Amino acid sequence: APLCAIAPFLGWVRMHNAPVSKRCICLLLILCGAIASRARRAKPEYCRTDLPGCCPKVVEHVLLLHIEKTGGTSLRTFLQSAVKRRFKGRGAICNYLKHMPYQCQPSSAAGGNSSCNARNYAYYQSAITTGDHFRRGCKLTSSHHDFRIVDAIPPHIRNTTLLIVNLRDPAGRAVSHFHMLRRHRDPGALNSTVVDYFVRNPLGVAISRNRMTRVMAGEFCCKKGLPAVYESDALYGRARARLEEFCVVGLTSRVQETMLYVQHVLGQVTDRPPKNLHYHNNANRYQPVDPAVLQQLDEFNGNDVELYKQAEGRFGAQMLAIGRSATDNSTAAAAEAGA
Ligand SMILES: *[C@@H]1O[C@H](CO)[C@@H](O)[C@H](O)[C@H]1NC(C)=O
Ligand SMILES: *[C@@H]1O[C@H](CO)[C@@H](O)[C@H](O)[C@H]1NC(C)=O
Ligand SMILES: *[C@@H]1O[C@H](CO)[C@@H](O)[C@H](O)[C@H]1NC(C)=O
Ligand SMILES: *[C@@H]1O[C@H](CO)[C@@H](O)[C@H](O)[C@H]1NC(C)=O
Repeated sequence: APLCAIAPFLGWVRMHNAPVSKRCICLLLILCGAIASRARRAKPEYCRTDLPGCCPKVVEHVLLLHIEKTGGTSLRTFLQSAVKRRFKGRGAICNYLKHMPYQCQPSSAAGGNSSCNARNYAYYQSAITTGDHFRRGCKLTSSHHDFRIVDAIPPHIRNTTLLIVNLRDPAGRAVSHFHMLRRHRDPGALNSTVVDYFVRNPLGVAISRNRMTRVMAGEFCCKKGLPAVYESDALYGRARARLEEFCVVGLTSRVQETMLYVQHVLGQVTDRPPKNLHYHNNANRYQPVDPAVLQQLDEFNGNDVELYKQAEGRFGAQMLAIGRSATDNSTAAAAEAGA
């Protein structure tokens, strides 16, 4: 591959004076370079070419990778009715509580817990990899697992599975997560501040640091006692690449338009965004305010900050693909006010 990358340049320089046989080799190398760079860009055969990312041409299953505190519950509530309509009586809605009972447990920074998430992996092995979960007729799967559950989907199901994920600005996500833990009387959160818990306390760091990147990279669910990695170029690179495999990358701040886009990819065209069906009263109460706190959270979640920028770019491309503005959500706001 590296040879192919420089081949066109070498070919250009050396072509004029070379004997015929060498000219042929040069032409071959140029061709090989062009094919290699095309292959890098090409999507799998089963993806639509008219939309960004990978939206399957045929949709038989919908999977929402639900990253905590990114507005996934609103999206799931909406998806339940959208998917029911799409598959009229042909399948079930599988909430993670029923068929995917285990949340990922973060390992400690030191690792060493060999039973860490063993139940999750056994579940992937017995239900996802074998296709059993989907044979049960699950049309919508909404799960708090990480990308490894997507990796476990067998190829003949993967090629008709619509992948959806929501991302949220990382500092806002962390503050929201912290307040949720307090509501659930998590001892670490109760007696702490968001910065003390999520930046300084190893347990809080394991829960929150670069959470979106870790889930997308498939590294949130620790396995076989290996220490958790919270920030690295490799982790971030994997998360970036996997974001491209999703059909719908939603933003928590633009929930109505995210739903509108989902309707588009499901072939359910409406002229105005659906209502947000699950309005959480706490959402407004716990808006992050202190700029110093936000700055500390942003600095500590650098991979997530970058990943979120990529998600915003993708979201804009999705909006453009359905003839809407990439950056202006006022249409959604107006529709909501009128609804
Ligand atoms: C190891 O992980 C399991 C869950 O997978 C948990 O129940 C157990 O408490 C953990 N053990 C230690 C020593 O952290
Ligand atoms: C998906 O893959 C299976 C084989 O793995 C193939 O039989 C099927 O036709 C594919 N479906 C689509 C829509 O590409
Ligand atoms: C909570 O914080 C107070 C004051 O900082 C301290 O006295 C107390 O021991 C802490 N409680 C727990 C359970 O950590
Ligand atoms: C529009 O965007 C702003 C800021 O990103 C956000 O606070 C607001 O909730 C969004 N409105 C809608 C209807 O999505």
